[in-house]
Amino acid sequence: MSKYFHITTYGCQMNVHESEKIAGILSRMGYKACDNIEDSDIAVFNTCCIRENAENHAFGNIGMLKKLKANKRDMLIAVGGCLTQQIGKADTLHDKYPYVDIIFGTHNLNELEELINKKRRQKKAVIEIEDSEGGICEGEKPLRTSYPNAWINITYGCNNFCSYCIVPYVRGRERSRRSEDIIKEAEELIAQGYKELTLLGQNVNSYANGTDDLSFPELLKKIADIEGKFRLRFMTSHPKDFSEELARVIAENPKICRAVHLPVQSGSDSVLKAMNRKYTAADYIKKIEILKKYVPDCAVTTDLIVGFPNESEEDFKATLSLVKQVGFASAFTFVYSKREGTVAAKMDGQIPEEVSKRRIMELIKLVNAQTREQTSHYVGKTIEILCEDYDEKRGKYLGRDEYGRMAYFSSGENKKGEFVRVKVGSANGMSLYGELTEE
Ligand code: SAH
Ligand code: SF4
Ligand code: F3S
Repeated sequence: MSKYFHITTYGCQMNVHESEKIAGILSRMGYKACDNIEDSDIAVFNTCCIRENAENHAFGNIGMLKKLKANKRDMLIAVGGCLTQQIGKADTLHDKYPYVDIIFGTHNLNELEELINKKRRQKKAVIEIEDSEGGICEGEKPLRTSYPNAWINITYGCNNFCSYCIVPYVRGRERSRRSEDIIKEAEELIAQGYKELTLLGQNVNSYANGTDDLSFPELLKKIADIEGKFRLRFMTSHPKDFSEELARVIAENPKICRAVHLPVQSGSDSVLKAMNRKYTAADYIKKIEILKKYVPDCAVTTDLIVGFPNESEEDFKATLSLVKQVGFASAFTFVYSKREGTVAAKMDGQIPEEVSKRRIMELIKLVNAQTREQTSHYVGKTIEILCEDYDEKRGKYLGRDEYGRMAYFSSGENKKGEFVRVKVGSANGMSLYGELTEE
């Protein structure tokens, strides 16, 4: 009889890809994927702790499994990901949810098969959290779920220690994969028919820093040189390491999408300093000018935080004015969330919730208005879309252009994984609606 697995993923693309690796391990062990957690023989939670609500969400969902597990004693429950890697959190999880069978850290993902086998031999829960700098796992085949896009890790961990951020504590120090391994993986994916590769790292610009391997722009160029029609994306870039050479490489290689995600976090110099971001608002604007000099049509997206400790009304206004000045294509906006163990958690001057709420509403309003304004310019134009999926509810196919705009269109044939041309008829917020065209 077949055995089934179900994975619930929280957090960033890094985690989405790591869930694909977990799925790879489980399918090698003979498990098959299933859509409903109730049908699974092993349920994995791949958690995130970037903000308090991500953490609460995971805790809530794991809590809901108590009844299911009581009725299905042979079912295994495994919890992995960033949440488990915080000091003391694995024990909290174990105390709160004693029915969780396996708790494994981000550095222990490759050992999952061994941990499952160990759990089968013993009654008590298996807890494996390695407090290491973290290694690099090569050779494990992920079970990819995001065709026609494929994620490729290029770095793991982070050395930046932005004062609000938990990632360096739960993911360990930055380490880079060897370029030859990355290029080989990219070649194989293109040969298999993937049409979009996204290179992943917390700070891709510092790839292979301090080693004699290729620099990040050199790596991009090598991958863009692989034969075939495909798109190349990368995330995330840290502004302090964003170089002119990178802007030039984007300009010279049409396969590299003209879309850069460059998180600014704040427009206030004193907040940026307290965040340990190592650039000023003026430095950031300068980077954007360099990028636009080489790639004038580049879509720039960003991340913004409001309510960082001691953020004054004036600081917040500086963020609003930077957003206006840069004209971001879109932005992710967050209310600062205190993360135990980080430098900012110890700062005085935490901002009251109602102030942060008002600020985020105002910021979202501005960002949305800008996005809508930019999207409206698409109406009447013909764009190239990489079709990603079919939306059952809308009864339409969807995909994105190289700048990242989502477009919906109708087709009698399955277009998933194909590049198509779409004439845009209307725009709604971030999304475009159009018809296939030969133009
Ligand atoms: N390494 C990437 C992304 C890290 S997490 C980078 O440096 O850009 C993604 C985003 O979450 C960050 O850019 C930041 O805007 C947000 N974030 C991180 N920690 C946060 C916290 N404690 N509270 C609120 N937002 C946070
Ligand atoms: Fe966190 Fe900063 Fe590293 Fe990004 S660069 S993961 S925000 S510490
Ligand atoms: Fe990603 Fe969340 Fe970890 S954003 S790196 S899964 S803390």
